Amino acid sequence: MKNIAILTGDGVAGEILASAIKVLDRISEVYDIKFNYNYAPIGGRAYDETGFPLPDKTIETALKSDAVLLGAVGDWKYDSLAPELRPERALLGIRKRLNLFANLRPIKVFNELLFASPLKEEVARDCDIMIVRELTGDVYFGEPKGIIKKTTLDNREIKVGFNNMIYDEDEIRRIAIVAFKSAQKRKKRVCCVDKANVLDVSRLFREITVEVSKDYPDVELSFMYIDNCAMQLVQNPRQFDVILTGNIFGDILSDEASTICGSLGMLPSASLSDGKTPFMYEPIHGSAPDLAGKNSVNPIATILSAAMMLDYSFNEKSASDSIYRAVKEVLKEGYRTRDILQKDNELTTTTKMTDLIIEKIR
Ligand code: IPM
Ligand code: MG
Repeated sequence: MKNIAILTGDGVAGEILASAIKVLDRISEVYDIKFNYNYAPIGGRAYDETGFPLPDKTIETALKSDAVLLGAVGDWKYDSLAPELRPERALLGIRKRLNLFANLRPIKVFNELLFASPLKEEVARDCDIMIVRELTGDVYFGEPKGIIKKTTLDNREIKVGFNNMIYDEDEIRRIAIVAFKSAQKRKKRVCCVDKANVLDVSRLFREITVEVSKDYPDVELSFMYIDNCAMQLVQNPRQFDVILTGNIFGDILSDEASTICGSLGMLPSASLSDGKTPFMYEPIHGSAPDLAGKNSVNPIATILSAAMMLDYSFNEKSASDSIYRAVKEVLKEGYRTRDILQKDNELTTTTKMTDLIIEKIR
């Protein structure tokens, strides 16, 4: 029996999680794996219920599970809350509490959806990148930070805001190891993306990555500055295999790279720890509160996140592959949710898309 914490957030979270759970239930029938779901609120929903976006009970539920599946958090109605009560804070909080330092964001194009990519078809075709983003350090968590007052030379009191972009070598080493191991299962290339021409923290990032690379002689290591990488991702994305990068660069690059695939609604993610705490899976897209309750959003990102869970947390590669295969077949047949709709395609609801995928899992 595998215990899965289902962290329901805001907006469309409930619908897409329901889709993923239906798919997991189907997997359970076909592959003889049993799942038990433990539900807990997170984000705005948790704030409404308990006054906190990340209640202790939610962390407990996550910690005692074998894996965590998260919907999405955030809604404009919480915009006026104090920063520590905002839904996004729950996301940062749970990453830190579960020690999820390695965020894997596969950018894998389904060629059936090339028309939806803003890139030329021949540029985006067959693109398959794994972004390995460090997730619990960097300027996101670095101390000191804050907004304080200072007095200028001409004696005015003004405010100054600051954060600290900081990595120690242990943090760099463990994320680099994840990237090299991931590359070994792929095309054996790691590109370390940083700003080493300007930032000391990036210079250390490179130094440690070079050190780690010595243990992976079968993997080719290259380097690219973040600004160049942002350009190369739209100019020639197929040159990349694994991109290894820090928290904030990875945040930005993964949103950019997601457009290659045509829709944010297609992209899953996995966040891994050192194995002492459960891994967490979530779609890359947000909570889209304007689309909530309309049975119209694309459930595939969350369904593929469940597929990543089967692979990374439960070592059920063939069950995981069967989901990818089912998704591909349904897309091939021309079924489309609104975000990936093309003329002549069949407009499909969230639930219909889910059922079609389920039918093809065998
Ligand atoms: C992401 C998101 C989060 C991040 C926000 C919502 C805190 O953009 O998962 O990429 O910046 O990490
Ligand atoms: Mg982001």
